[in-house]
Order: sequence, then C-alpha cells, then structure tokens
Amino acid sequence: MQYRTLGNSELKASAVALGTWGLGGGSVWSDHDSTEAEARDLLSACKDYGINYIDTAPVYGTGESERLLGCALKGRRHDFILQTKCSLNWRNEGGNFHYSRDGYTVNNDTRPTAIVRDVEDSLRRMQTDYLDSVIVHYVCRSFPVSDTVEALERLKEQGKIRAYGLSNSQPADLEEYQANGGHVDLVQEFFSILSPFHGREYFTACRPHGTTFQTYGVLEEGFLTSPAFMERTFVKTDIRSRIPWVQPEVKAGLKKAFEAWEPIRAAHYCSFSQLFEAWALAQYENMSLLVGMRKPKNVADNAACLDLTLSPEELSAMEKAAKPIQVEVLDK
Ligand SMILES: NC(=O)c1ccc[n+]([C@@H]2O[C@H](COP(=O)([O-])OP(=O)(O)OC[C@H]3O[C@@H](n4cnc5c(N)ncnc54)[C@H](OP(=O)(O)O)[C@@H]3O)[C@@H](O)[C@H]2O)c1
Repeated sequence: MQYRTLGNSELKASAVALGTWGLGGGSVWSDHDSTEAEARDLLSACKDYGINYIDTAPVYGTGESERLLGCALKGRRHDFILQTKCSLNWRNEGGNFHYSRDGYTVNNDTRPTAIVRDVEDSLRRMQTDYLDSVIVHYVCRSFPVSDTVEALERLKEQGKIRAYGLSNSQPADLEEYQANGGHVDLVQEFFSILSPFHGREYFTACRPHGTTFQTYGVLEEGFLTSPAFMERTFVKTDIRSRIPWVQPEVKAGLKKAFEAWEPIRAAHYCSFSQLFEAWALAQYENMSLLVGMRKPKNVADNAACLDLTLSPEELSAMEKAAKPIQVEVLDK
C-alpha cells in the first residue's frame, strides 16, 4: 500500500480508501444488508492489505453504515482514519429539502448548529470521541460559508475533528471556503473514465492549495467491474437502476468499450476494476482512490491496483474507447 498526506493535514491515508455507502444496505443497495460480523471481516481485510482510510456518511442507510462501522471499529479505532460527512440529515430541523426516501425526509443544512449536531450524532453512532475527517456532503449556497467554516474550525480546535473537506462542489466553492479562512484538506467528487470532466477541472483548482482530490464512483457502482455486471437488474430504488449505464443505448456503447478495453486488461493479467483504478490514479498526483467495497475479496483485488502501471498509449486508448459514452455530470 502507498500512503499519502491528506491535504495539508497530518493524516497519512492509504491511497486506496474504503467506501461504505453499500454497508448502509436498505432500498439503495438492495442486494444485501451487511451484518456486524461482515463489517468486522471487511475492516480486518482492510487492515491486512494496508487500507487505513474509511469513508462513510450519516445518510448511508440512515445511520446503518456508521452503526456497523462503530461495531467493527471496537478495539481498533486508532488503526483507521475515519471520515464521515455532515450537512445531510433527517432530523427535520430545517435546511433545504434534499430528498425523501423510505419514510425519511433528508434536508441539507450547512448552518453551524446543524454541523455540530451532525458531528455529535456521528460520534455517538460510531462510538468514538473524534473523527479524523468530516466532509460537507453537499455544499449549499443558501447559508453563509463563513459560518460553516467557523463551525468546522471550532470543532477542530475542540479535537472532535482533525480535517475537513467538501463534496458535490465546484472549484469556486473550494476558493470560497479558502477565502473565508477555511483549511479544506480534500474534495470528494465523482470521477471515472466515464465521467472525467468535473474531476479534471477540479485538479487545477486543488493544486495551488495542496488539496487532495478524492474520487467517488470510480467503478461506476460496479458497472466498470466486468461486462457481465450490466446484465444485472435492480429494483427501482437502488442507485444502480438510476444511473445512465442501464439505458439500452448507453449499455450498447459500454459493451463496445469493454471490447476495446479487454486486450489491455488481458495484457496486464489484471481485473477490470484494477484497470480503471490504475487509470484514475494516473490522472492526478494527489489522488485518493475511494472505492465502495463490502467483500474482503474486493479489498484484496483493489489494494493490488497500485502494482499496475499503464503506458501513456494505454491510458489514451482506454479513454478513446470511453469517449462515445462519457457524461459531463452525474448526480448520485
Ligand atoms: N460524496 C458523495 O456524494 C458520494 C456519492 C457516492 C459515493 N460516495 C462514496 O464513495 C464510495 C465509492 O462509491 P460507490 O461505492 O458508490 O461506487 P464504486 O466504488 O464505483 O463501486 C462500488 C461497487 O463496485 C464493487 N466492487 C468494488 N471493487 C470490486 C472488485 N475489485 N471486483 C468486483 N467488484 C468490485 C462493489 O462490490 P461490493 O460492494 O459487493 O464489494 C460495489 O458494488 C461510496 O461507498 C461512498 O463512500 C460519496
């Protein structure tokens, strides 16, 4: 495993990070509800392969992902860099309507009271007294950034958080947070070979601040793990039934792209997952590769993506094959 400093913080995080949206299960990741024993095994596999960086969020399974992590972290909390999010909550205490699902209404609230309450709720659910990193889940232009920055900086002074970042944001948001005295150590944004444009614009904005760019969706929720994956069907509420790769015309394009990617994968004796992870890592020097995993075998496979180096010719051939189906924006 390789370790990289998270932004300008003192945190040394594994280049591959564990994403735990799927651990929330329920109607969004409908094929499996993980158990406490499975969550423990998952973290043990991460430890075995040197992955020390975990990402979660309060809304993943409305608290379930955090609850399972809290159980799995018992006795080994200090072995991991634990990151969760703030701003999206289902407390019905104001903020902007974000979505309704499973009988809950989720609002987006970046005001100080909400941020502090989010952090306290996450600490309680994960049975810990500090969070290594907290990400503003959806930046929000309705409330003053200066107030949000003040709240985050105060939480840092109190030792409740060690670093913070932004998500679902634009380069202008990073500039605004920095201009208001913020110390944004990372941005967490969608990025994959099928949707690389937002990330590329952001790399240029991150560089002068030393900000880490953390990918999400690098495997497109499984659609880039194998050509067979797109034959699976999911219930309507599942995230994987709502992204572009399930539409028939895009599916045909993705199949064609897999045919072009296959010889490159075969030449390296690697998995498709490793191929797209290595592609992503080659795009920006200060990259944190956040990958969703529920199975120990996937942890082993993904940790090994760092052993793979693709030539400039292979990198551009891969992207050329993706071009016809690339999309500008994804909202997950
Ligand atoms: N800030 C945001 O708004 C936001 C939005 C989306 C995601 N995120 C974060 O980013 C993380 C990653 O995104 P994601 O989980 O949505 O999608 P992803 O990383 O693109 O894909 C995850 C899927 O790929 C499968 N997978 C992973 N490694 C594999 C391997 N080596 N072989 C075969 N299959 C493999 C996983 O299977 P198993 O689950 O069965 O292991 C899972 O179904 C999330 O978990 C979450 O922490 C943040």
